[in-house]
Amino acid sequence: MAEVQEGPGLLRLMHTEARRREWPQTAAILGAGTMGLGVAECFAAAGMTVKLADATPELAREARERLIARARGHSEAGLLPEEAVGRVRGVAAADGVAEAVAGVDLVFEAVPESVGLKEEVLGVCSAGASTGAVIVSNTSSLPMDELARFVEGAGRFCGMHWFNPPEWTPGVEVIPAGETGAGTVESLVGFLRSIGKRPAVVGSGPGFVANRIQNAMFLEAVRCVEDGLASPEEVDEVVRSCFGFRLPFFGPFQIADMAGLDVYASVLGVLRDGLGDRFEPPKMLLDLVEEGRTGTKAGAGFLDYTDEERGRLLLERDRRYAALLELLGRMPPVGAGKGEG
Ligand SMILES: NC(=O)c1ccc[n+]([C@@H]2O[C@H](COP(=O)([O-])OP(=O)(O)OC[C@H]3O[C@@H](n4cnc5c(N)ncnc54)[C@H](O)[C@@H]3O)[C@@H](O)[C@H]2O)c1
Repeated sequence: MAEVQEGPGLLRLMHTEARRREWPQTAAILGAGTMGLGVAECFAAAGMTVKLADATPELAREARERLIARARGHSEAGLLPEEAVGRVRGVAAADGVAEAVAGVDLVFEAVPESVGLKEEVLGVCSAGASTGAVIVSNTSSLPMDELARFVEGAGRFCGMHWFNPPEWTPGVEVIPAGETGAGTVESLVGFLRSIGKRPAVVGSGPGFVANRIQNAMFLEAVRCVEDGLASPEEVDEVVRSCFGFRLPFFGPFQIADMAGLDVYASVLGVLRDGLGDRFEPPKMLLDLVEEGRTGTKAGAGFLDYTDEERGRLLLERDRRYAALLELLGRMPPVGAGKGEG
């Protein structure tokens, strides 16, 4: 059984091991807002030399002060070792984008979501960063090929989509544009893993993968309320305590394999009949059921399972759920800590 500790031990310290890393040693963060500051804290805590730029030199200096204050706050809360706060103090505020990107290995663009602004900032990066530097954008929604046009030598450009709060959320979508070099993608994935993140390489369709799936769920949540099925509070409880309970450990494909794809196909048929075409069972699912690949019980579904793997998976599932239940039991109930952001 996984051990769940009391007190601050319940909370994972930010991954701060200042590992000897070939690449990147230095980074520029462009746009020191919600995302840029969190990413700057991660990079600095991991031992990288970081420069911050914002719309004006004054804003960059103020952002640096906020960054140090938040690292100190994390340290006081037991979430960041004291020596990492020292590394965050070493972050420099640059007078502008051109100064920040000069000579760095990695440029992280996190200015507001406007094509015009991204064009302006990526244009300055493209001219000012060394040709060997990798330039990434944290865009949540803009097509990568459109942004790649703003970078000379687009083989070094890629999407790198973090999630809020970036210090703690492990998932990062790595989104190559058509021209992004394979080496660029490989370097970014290796780097993200080295600082404790869990990258996934995904295509540049609308919303990429995470926002597309998250918004599909959000739309149905709003419709459940509009249809009078449940209050927002009840929907939140159902999502977090029923299927959401599984999501820290398993994605939709493994969950469906464990439940049975034949079951999913019939449930989707009922939903389609009641709610329309958006619930039409997809061909990929129906084909698997037709082939007898109905999930773990059949030894194959979306994934393949030997008998041994299946046994291990189900046991591991039960262990993880039991550990999570114990952890949740030690947390205050939802709403007890009013004012949580
Ligand atoms: N907030 C989120 O949850 C989230 C999550 C994932 C991705 N993103 C994406 O990350 C990017 C940044 O989002 P955010 O929420 O951090 O925005 P934000 O508004 O909090 O921060 C943007 C920062 O960029 C600065 N800025 C504006 N013009 C600039 C310029 N010309 N040069 C340098 N800096 C400039 C602003 O002053 C501000 O500090 C966007 O593309 C957004 O879509 C946001």
